Amino acid sequence: MRTQVAIVGAGPSGLLLGALLHKAGIDHVIVEQRSPDYVLGRIRAGVLEQVAVDLLDEAGVGARLHAEGLPHDGFDLCFDGRRHRIDLHALTGKRVVVYGQTEVTRDLMDHRAAVGRTTVYDADNVAVGGFDTARPFVTFRQGGVEQRLEADFIAGCDGFHGVCRASVPGSAIQTFEKVYPFGWLGVLADVPPVSHELIYGNSDRGFMLASMRSKTRSRYYVQCRLDEKVEAWSDDAFWDELKRRLPAADAERLVTGPSIEKSIAPLRSFVTEPMRFGRLFLAGDAAHIVPPTGAKGLNLAASDVALLARGFIEHYAGSNEGIDRYSERALSRVWKAERFSWWFTSLMHQFPETGGFGAKMQLAELDYLCGSVAAQTVMAENYVGLPIPG
Ligand code: FAD
Ligand code: PHB
Repeated sequence: MRTQVAIVGAGPSGLLLGALLHKAGIDHVIVEQRSPDYVLGRIRAGVLEQVAVDLLDEAGVGARLHAEGLPHDGFDLCFDGRRHRIDLHALTGKRVVVYGQTEVTRDLMDHRAAVGRTTVYDADNVAVGGFDTARPFVTFRQGGVEQRLEADFIAGCDGFHGVCRASVPGSAIQTFEKVYPFGWLGVLADVPPVSHELIYGNSDRGFMLASMRSKTRSRYYVQCRLDEKVEAWSDDAFWDELKRRLPAADAERLVTGPSIEKSIAPLRSFVTEPMRFGRLFLAGDAAHIVPPTGAKGLNLAASDVALLARGFIEHYAGSNEGIDRYSERALSRVWKAERFSWWFTSLMHQFPETGGFGAKMQLAELDYLCGSVAAQTVMAENYVGLPIPG
């Protein structure tokens, strides 16, 4: 098989890149190691920046998002018995949209099927090579048969545990990492959200987040220890813990019900530099991870592939400027989102090892934030998303 761009991974990065390349008439194939149902079953992100919404529109997959997504103009911060609303729209003129990653993925998969582009699912032993030459390739086994896909470029959209980043020689790559000493225990349930906007809470029992997927489906998270097992958390135990961390009035109003998904996600900050190795380009979680506080992961994946699609389009029109500057441009946005996610994580979680002093620093910063329009503007500007570098 031969194509122009071989895309490894059919998560949001790979599928959105595919849709943008399709629109530009660039031939490409996506190779994914899992099944479509497995990809759709992963419950992850829930908040889209305007930049991501605009890209989905540009790719021609925004219709359901506009019909069913929930525009949010602000969110609440709760701490020390206080509650403060960050008015995103008043502070920045922008808003975010609550629309689940599974829905984004489904829309992109449906669009791909409708336009007849190839995705190879259930590919085994995926490997990449030759990206330091003019003839890069992807090999895999499909239904027991060895396949080789030759391409002009490889886009590594295969997530944090993928094969693309792992195939780069250690001497060519630098990584920066911070692992946090806790995780998020998340529950998805078909119950109405406790509040019409998101609530981020720093309670003395740990962080909590009240989020949603729709007016009838809620997504809640509580900070948990890294050694905790999800099987040890009954639904009742989760709801009890959430109520202890919610403001009292919300705890009383909370509607509980059976969980339809429950999982623990560790928190990590991670960046790879550069994001290009010859003819291999990394995008999304394959290149970087943010802790979910601030909802930046999926949004960064979208801005990476926007820059990458632009680079490939320019290449086929005769200029290599876009692909040559891809890594530098993507990383300048990535590092700012890393900073914001790290800062918001540091502000809202319990860090037992920092003791009473650390807790007082958090309270002082939250108190300052509530009293300063300048500080709230900085927060809001980052939350709604920074522009894609030109
Ligand atoms: P992935 O979604 O990981 O997709 C990679 C794909 O590559 C997968 O389908 C995988 O099966 C495939 N793959 C892996 N290895 C191979 C291989 N060897 N060969 C072929 N295919 C392979 N982000 C936000 O913006 N907002 C949020 O609110 C938010 N909340 C989150 C909450 C949680 C609990 C978690 C865990 C994450 C959250 N994120 C959020 C982050 C977001 O989900 C990720 O950043 C996003 O999924 C990245 O997309 P991706 O396509 O780069 O990677
Ligand atoms: C989610 O709904 O899953 C979500 C929302 C906001 C975040 C993180 C996750 O900051």
